[in-house]
Amino acid sequence: MKLIGKQINIRDLRYSDLDAYFEYGKDPNVGPFAGWKPFPTKDIASRVLNGQLVSKETFAIVLTDTDKLIGTISLYNSGIRKYNKVKSLGFSLSSAYWNRGYMTEAVHLMIGYAFEKTDCEVLEAGHHTDNYRCKRVLEKCGFNYDGTLCSFKKLYDGRIVDASFYSMTKIEYERKKEYE
Ligand SMILES: CC(C)(COP(=O)(O)OP(=O)(O)OC[C@H]1O[C@@H](n2cnc3c(N)ncnc32)[C@H](O)[C@@H]1OP(=O)(O)O)[C@@H](O)C(=O)NCCC(=O)NCCS
Repeated sequence: MKLIGKQINIRDLRYSDLDAYFEYGKDPNVGPFAGWKPFPTKDIASRVLNGQLVSKETFAIVLTDTDKLIGTISLYNSGIRKYNKVKSLGFSLSSAYWNRGYMTEAVHLMIGYAFEKTDCEVLEAGHHTDNYRCKRVLEKCGFNYDGTLCSFKKLYDGRIVDASFYSMTKIEYERKKEYE
């Protein structure tokens, strides 16, 4: 899979991404906001990367000019909604690249991919309620706020977080496309 953007592209992960994947995943400003522990070693990064190569649900976000991995974006079944045509989006970016519009571009590309290349009928996304950056990305990409679940999850570090959820239906996506 390869999706072409202006500043970033999205493509399949490769094992040769490992060095860049570790660099991004050990960043203490990234994982905790998405609910995962920063990778303490390259060996752990390698194991997580191998798991993602097998599951094929996570893709690399790479810079268009160098093809360097700077983040990841996943399309998966979260199981929160009990309907098998709902897909969930999850994403994270190395903090060195924040606030340049990269994730907004990546999410726009994945919305098109989900509705045009898979059988997805509803796309959902969520964030820890205090994650204002992620909230802003979802708003900019046209998601609708569905609601907030209190005490949604206990994280690896013992924090219990509330989470806010958003969705977009295929019908809404197609309607928006007509007016673009
Ligand atoms: C959330 C994340 C993916 C955003 O990526 P990004 O490429 O910086 O996003 P963009 O540049 O496309 O948009 C960020 C928006 O957040 C806004 N923002 C940044 N810091 C903010 C803050 N503290 N409060 C409110 N808004 C903020 C920016 O101004 C921008 O909005 P604007 O275009 O209206 O100015 C990135 O911060 C990240 O990886 N964080 C850690 C992991 C994570 O939170 N993943 C998502 C889990 S749901």
